[in-house]
Amino acid sequence: MKNSKQKIDQFIKAVKIVKNNFLEKVGEHKAIIHIYTHLDADGLSSGAILGKALFRENLPFQITVLRQLEKEEIEKISNNIREIKQFLIFTDFGSGQYLELQKQLIIKDNFSSYIILDHHLPQNISSEEDIDLIREIYENSYQWHINPYFFGFNGSIEISGAGLSYFFAKCLNEKNIDLSSIALIGAIGDIQNKGPNKSFLGLNSLILEDAKNSGLVDIKNDLNFSSIKPLNEAIAYSKEINLPGLTGDINKTLIFLQTLGILMENSKGEIRTLNDLNNDEKQKISSGIIEYASVKLDIEPSKIVEKLIINRYLLKNEVIGSELYDASEFSNLLNACGRTNSASLGIAIAMGDRKRAYQKSQEILLNYKRSLVKSLRWLKDKQKIQQKEYIQYFFGEDTIPDKIIGTIASMLVFGNGEGFDKSKPIFGLAIREDENVYKVSGRAHEYIVNKGVNLSQLIRDVCKQLNLDVLGGGHPPAAGTKIPIDKAEAFLESCNIEVRNQLKNQ
Ligand code: C5P
Ligand code: ZN
Repeated sequence: MKNSKQKIDQFIKAVKIVKNNFLEKVGEHKAIIHIYTHLDADGLSSGAILGKALFRENLPFQITVLRQLEKEEIEKISNNIREIKQFLIFTDFGSGQYLELQKQLIIKDNFSSYIILDHHLPQNISSEEDIDLIREIYENSYQWHINPYFFGFNGSIEISGAGLSYFFAKCLNEKNIDLSSIALIGAIGDIQNKGPNKSFLGLNSLILEDAKNSGLVDIKNDLNFSSIKPLNEAIAYSKEINLPGLTGDINKTLIFLQTLGILMENSKGEIRTLNDLNNDEKQKISSGIIEYASVKLDIEPSKIVEKLIINRYLLKNEVIGSELYDASEFSNLLNACGRTNSASLGIAIAMGDRKRAYQKSQEILLNYKRSLVKSLRWLKDKQKIQQKEYIQYFFGEDTIPDKIIGTIASMLVFGNGEGFDKSKPIFGLAIREDENVYKVSGRAHEYIVNKGVNLSQLIRDVCKQLNLDVLGGGHPPAAGTKIPIDKAEAFLESCNIEVRNQLKNQ
C-alpha cells in the first residue's frame, strides 16, 4: 500500500509525462487542438480550464461538448482526423472508452495524437480493486492517459475531470494556478465534496489548498441551505435536509423561523436569504433546527449537525450574493447551461465572461430549475416510480427529457430523500428523440454501494449479456448507457438480477 505522498508524487510525475508528450506532438504537427468534453458542470469546467490554459500558451484550440463519448461519436472523430490535422484532448470522458479510442484511432488510422484526462473507471475495469488490470492499462497507456485509479485515488470522490485538467494546466504553466477554483466547481458538480461537512478529499484537497493560497477561495462554515433563495423556501425545499412538518411547506417554515425570533423581511419587504443573516441569527436557526430534529423527530443531534453545518466555498473575486459567489451555485449554473443546449455559454462563464454569457444564463437557470421541480413533482404526484425486487425505475415519458434524466435520478438518490426508498438503486430511462434509443441513468446511494452495488460494472455486464453494441459505465454509484427501445424490459430485468448477485457476492 502506497502512502499518500508517494501516490501524489507518482501522479504528478505521470502528468508531466503526458504534458511532455502533448508538447512534443503539438510542436511537431502545428495542429489545431480539439478538446472534447462532457456536457455537465464537471465537463464544462474541464473544457474552460483547458481552453484558458491553451489560450495562454497561444495554442489554437476548439472545444466540442458531447452528451457522452459514444461509439458513433468516436467514429465521427475518426473520420474527422482524416480531413483536418489535429491533436485531440478527451476530458471528463475517454477512460471508459479508451479501448474503443485505441481501436478507432491508433489501430485503424495509425493516429496517436491524443491524450485522455479522465476520472471514470477505465473500460474493462469493474472496480478500484482490480489492481493488476489497472496496472496493466497504466503501463500500456501512461504516455497519453491520466486516470486517478492508476495511482490508487478514487475517481468518484478524490478528483474530477476538471481537477485532472487543472493538474495538466498547472504542469503546462504555473500561472494556471488561478484556474484552481474552476476545478473545485467541477468537483462539486460531480458531488465529490463528500468528506465530513462537505470537505474535499484526496487530490481535490490539494486543489483547494492552491485556491486558498492564491486568495481565490474562502471557506466558511454555514448552514446547508441555499444562500440566495428566500430563507423559508431554502429550508422547505432543501435537497438534503428533511424536516417532516416543515419540508415542502413554506408557510409553516416561515412561522417556525419567526418563532425563533428571526426577522424575516428586509427593508424592501422581501423575505431575507441566508446571505442576509448575521452570525447570531444563523446560530439561532442552527440551534432551533437541532432542537426541532432531536425533540420532534428523535434524530441524534450529531447526525443532524453533520448535514446541517457545511463548508461553503466562496469565490472571492465574484460579486457577493450572486450565484457565482458560491461555488456550489456556480456549478449548478454550469449544469443548467450544459443540460439545456447552452454548453458554450457555460464554458464562456467558466472562462470569465460576466457580461453577455452570464446575462443570458439567468433565464436558462430559471427554466432549468423549473423543469427539475416539474419533473420531480410529476414523478411523485403520478407515482411514476416502479418497483422490482432489487431495483426501482422510471420512464421520463413526455415530461423528463434525456438530458436531465440523470440529474433527476441523482436528486432522488442523493437528495433529502423525502418519501423515496434509498435501499434500492434507481434507473431513469428517457427517449432520445434523434436516435430511437433510451438514455439510461443509474444511481445508487452510498449505503448500498458499501454493501456491494457497483452500477458501472452492472451496466457493462448487462449490456454484454444482452449483446448490446454500446458503451456504458461510470462510477459505482452513478453510471449510464443507452439501449434500444425494445430492450428496456429485458435490460431492467437483468439489472434486477445483477443487483441481487452483487449483494449476494459480498
Ligand atoms: O449519463 P449519466 O449522468 O447517467 O452518467 C452517470 C455517470 O456515468 C457520469 O459520470 C457519466 O460520465 C458516466 N457515463 C459513462 N459512460 C456512459 C454513460 C455515462 O462513463 N456511456
Ligand atoms: Zn466528471
